[in-house]
Amino acid sequence: MQHFLSLADFSADQLNELLEMALFLKREHRSGGNRPVLAGKVLGMLFMKPSLRTRVSFEVGMLHLGGQALYLGPEEVGLGRRESIPDVARVLGGYVHGIMARVFEHDHLHQLAQWSPVPVINGLSDANHPCQAMADALTLLEHFGSLRGRSMAYVGDGNNVARSLLFLAARLGLDFRLACPPGYQLDAATLAQAAPLAEGSGAKITSGEDVQALVGGAEVVYTDTWTSMGQEAEAAERRRVFPPFQVNDALLKHAAPNAVVLHCLPAHRGEEITDAVADGPHSRIFQQAHNRLHAQKAILARLLRD
Ligand code: CP
Ligand code: NVA
Repeated sequence: MQHFLSLADFSADQLNELLEMALFLKREHRSGGNRPVLAGKVLGMLFMKPSLRTRVSFEVGMLHLGGQALYLGPEEVGLGRRESIPDVARVLGGYVHGIMARVFEHDHLHQLAQWSPVPVINGLSDANHPCQAMADALTLLEHFGSLRGRSMAYVGDGNNVARSLLFLAARLGLDFRLACPPGYQLDAATLAQAAPLAEGSGAKITSGEDVQALVGGAEVVYTDTWTSMGQEAEAAERRRVFPPFQVNDALLKHAAPNAVVLHCLPAHRGEEITDAVADGPHSRIFQQAHNRLHAQKAILARLLRD
């Protein structure tokens, strides 16, 4: 049984297979022919944080595949608060065929996976957002036709989204640049974890603070909120530090002329990204959001099928 907790756990071949399957399922859906490969299957969805995209795309994805999904909000289950994580995993795992969980501590996913009799999928933790990175990869695959060698600058906070993109880039051979303010870089342990993943893929990983240099010539410019869920107390300080890392027209001038702009959303318009860029000709943010559905259907079909 396989879980889907971090992209670092998957080989390039496995990631490429999932992307191929996502493209196939998207074509199949567009031509009106969803196949009920998960008929009779139920996904339990545990949310300790809010969501629009993750909740709806998983729920609709299960419907497309012939199954169904159950939403369990933070007040209902109280993962690790009302009931211990091992007990939740063993009880819930006896009712459903897969568990998707959005949590604060990444280790809570490891605990769920350790005790669950069914596959566990990471719907975002403080450390990783692997389903998002797969939707991002799908969006870039549709746009460029291939991923190896593409240059992507991630601009902003060295957070969960940045970490999953780093693992994706390392595995699939991208030229990945991380531009984050001092004190908000991805940690050294994460960069060290990514280094061996890049072996053989031809990936190039660069990180630093010189945002204009790192965005220089990049074919993809990606940003995310400056203040992630759970960090609200730091919002004022982050608003003071991050403005030089805003993705705006001036910064985009340094990127490749036809650069693609991505954002996992929700966007804080006027902070990490301007309206002009989010709604401008480079932006693929809504295609990207919609690709959550197709990327996750591939993950669900792979993990929950007999
Ligand atoms: N990008 C993303 O995960 O969005 P939600 O928080 O709305 O699920
Ligand atoms: N980094 C953001 C992503 C939201 C989808 C957060 O964790 O809040």
